[in-house]
Amino acid sequence: MVHKPHLWFCLLLLSITTSHAYVTHLELTSCKQGSACSPVPGFKMLPVNVNQDTDLDSVFLHLRNDHTSPPITDLMLVQAPQPTEIDGWTYMNINLHQNSNQPKKEDSNAIWLYYTRNTTISNRPITSIIIKQGKNQDGGVGYRRLAMDLNTKVGGEHLYYHQDGSAEPITAISAKSCFSDDCYIEGWERVPKDVNEGVIIGFRVYLFFKRERGNSPVTDMVVVLDDQTPPEGYIKVDVDLNSGTVRGASIFLYYKIESNLTEDDLKTAVQQMAVAYGDSLGTPYGWNKINVDLNSQGHDSSDGFGQPTFLFFRRGYEVPEKVPPLTFKADGTFKILQLADLHFSNNKGKCRDVPPNSSCEGDSTTVASIEKLLKSERPDLVVFTGDNIDGIGGVNDARTATLKYSQPVIEQRIPWAMIFGNHDDENDLSREELFEVVRNLPYSISEEGPFEISGVGNYVLKIWTNGTDAKLTEKMHAFTVYLFDSHAYANPEKTVYGEIKQDQLEWYRNVSQSFKTGQADTPNAIAFFHIPMPEYNNLDRDGHQQPILGDKRETVSSGKDTSYSILSTFREGGDIRATGCGHDHVNDYCMNAEGIALCYAGGMGVNGYGAGHLGWPRRSRVWLIEDFGSTIRTWKRLDDKMLTMIHYQTLTND
Ligand SMILES: *[C@@H]1O[C@H](CO)[C@@H](O)[C@H](O)[C@H]1NC(C)=O
Ligand SMILES: *[C@@H]1O[C@H](CO)[C@@H](O)[C@H](O)[C@H]1NC(C)=O
Ligand SMILES: *[C@@H]1O[C@H](CO)[C@@H](O)[C@H](O)[C@H]1NC(C)=O
Ligand SMILES: *[C@@H]1O[C@H](CO)[C@@H](O)[C@H](O)[C@H]1NC(C)=O
Ligand SMILES: *[C@@H]1O[C@H](CO)[C@@H](O)[C@H](O)[C@H]1NC(C)=O
Repeated sequence: MVHKPHLWFCLLLLSITTSHAYVTHLELTSCKQGSACSPVPGFKMLPVNVNQDTDLDSVFLHLRNDHTSPPITDLMLVQAPQPTEIDGWTYMNINLHQNSNQPKKEDSNAIWLYYTRNTTISNRPITSIIIKQGKNQDGGVGYRRLAMDLNTKVGGEHLYYHQDGSAEPITAISAKSCFSDDCYIEGWERVPKDVNEGVIIGFRVYLFFKRERGNSPVTDMVVVLDDQTPPEGYIKVDVDLNSGTVRGASIFLYYKIESNLTEDDLKTAVQQMAVAYGDSLGTPYGWNKINVDLNSQGHDSSDGFGQPTFLFFRRGYEVPEKVPPLTFKADGTFKILQLADLHFSNNKGKCRDVPPNSSCEGDSTTVASIEKLLKSERPDLVVFTGDNIDGIGGVNDARTATLKYSQPVIEQRIPWAMIFGNHDDENDLSREELFEVVRNLPYSISEEGPFEISGVGNYVLKIWTNGTDAKLTEKMHAFTVYLFDSHAYANPEKTVYGEIKQDQLEWYRNVSQSFKTGQADTPNAIAFFHIPMPEYNNLDRDGHQQPILGDKRETVSSGKDTSYSILSTFREGGDIRATGCGHDHVNDYCMNAEGIALCYAGGMGVNGYGAGHLGWPRRSRVWLIEDFGSTIRTWKRLDDKMLTMIHYQTLTND
């Protein structure tokens, strides 16, 4: 195939519509008790039956994102025998407590879900809705929990939702100490995470806040240790944040309310609070950090007990700088750095499989390596290909781990995109909740992708010609980066890995088809995903060893469904020239699978397993797209002193 940019003149810039993943439509379905209702075509089905383990009907909520429709901006639940009209709101005609076995004339426990698109009521589009089982859960930071228990009989199911944009300011702060995590104050929103985490003898302590329209906002907060004098005019939250701990000094939170603020001042009042675990997080973009470990004895954090715990708050709401469309440089090149299997923790992180004499210090060592790589390679885009966060055991605050792995890239102002692996969501946050963390980080161009297909984070990035070059007077889509969610596991026992599913491949077929217009060539593409497809293992075909460039030090751990082939679909699509996966940390080869290069990146994080102790350093893969998309070259950088470049190769030049 001849890929010369001038052939693409008819491929004009059709639209760079930003497909905001807002919830625009809701459906409720009910079916026989204990069964899983059918999905609704075009909708994403939330996996939790709101009446699980009861004698009520199964009820499922389904979400749709149709970006030609106005978004839903708020939700509420109303308990009443019958739904009633409420100005500006629409109710859904299925009782969440429906019981078709015992139809009662009047069910006073009936629960009705209302939604609104009325921007007078709320102008904050809903980006995510989740239902969690378990009474005393939190959603991620920024999620609101509807107070009504959807399922009182089995300890609860709650609906949580996240909205975009600027929130009403916080107008009051409170705290409560409890024996367990069943710790709420009616009418208040809880800040996720107990501030006494890891303290063996002691109470749980949660922070709470209120946003009351018309009340003066909180503009500042400080933590005051027992030998300090609180600042004048600040209000005391009268619960010792070290409540009941044997060793703890007393730690109190004070906050300031300011009245008579102008509209502009109001916008910069405190809008969000977050508690983070671990002492290795700096101050994330847009946030303020209170630099006192809430689990410490006092001034010296190193003298702490329990888990290091810090309070952050955000004044106002800064929309991060918009990332301009990805564009080839004037010399026709575009460079992508693939970082695989970073396995970040919210704590310091371990040094696994490193040389015995290494100066490794955990996550901070991985951060330093990434910084060095970024400075040396100066990529135009960084792609995190999953297991960005470590799995069960090492992480109890996945948001903090996310802020840590993205920070070096954000600091260098480089656009970045991420997908999930099998470990990222094994901790306190689901894929959806993690995506809400990523959504508003600076330089993030990650997208949640269509709601109706499997997974979170199936999306396309287009790389454009500059348009200022004399020969290339149009801005054209000249190269494609596909990102797929390859899921985590295929069974609950976690013995079989997940893989890209058939509906995702159908989506890929549709998208790649849409790039084939008229007689013009389709732009070349790379596909990134975490878990390799089985063909990565076909090193021996027809009795002949396929040549590979790089190492295969472990088994290819792919999914096991042989009823369809991801690789064949890519071949039919015709645009994908190379794939980049992670998952198997000590494989780093590229192989040619009949025209498509199947490549591993090799693991990069020292908190994940590796083979550094066997003289095989951590590494990462660089992709250099040249000639405005017609040539793909790749190499790896070893995480050694010289960032040694190895295995330079040209994958396609057609
Ligand atoms: C929107 O909500 C406001 C306040 O409740 C109400 O006055 C108005 O009629 C609503 N508009 C629509 C179109 O429902
Ligand atoms: C706020 O403004 C009102 C009216 O201008 C004034 O009467 C009041 O004293 C002000 N309050 C404060 C705390 O400044
Ligand atoms: C596009 O080309 C112009 C002129 O050569 C240059 O100034 C600009 O930086 C280029 N843009 C990118 C993204 O490379
Ligand atoms: C660590 O030990 C290895 C093997 O003994 C040696 O080759 C290497 O230079 C040492 N590295 C450092 C940083 O001392
Ligand atoms: C693919 O396109 C077909 C035809 O337009 C459509 O019916 C189908 O829903 C699309 N599937 C996906 C997953 O986008």
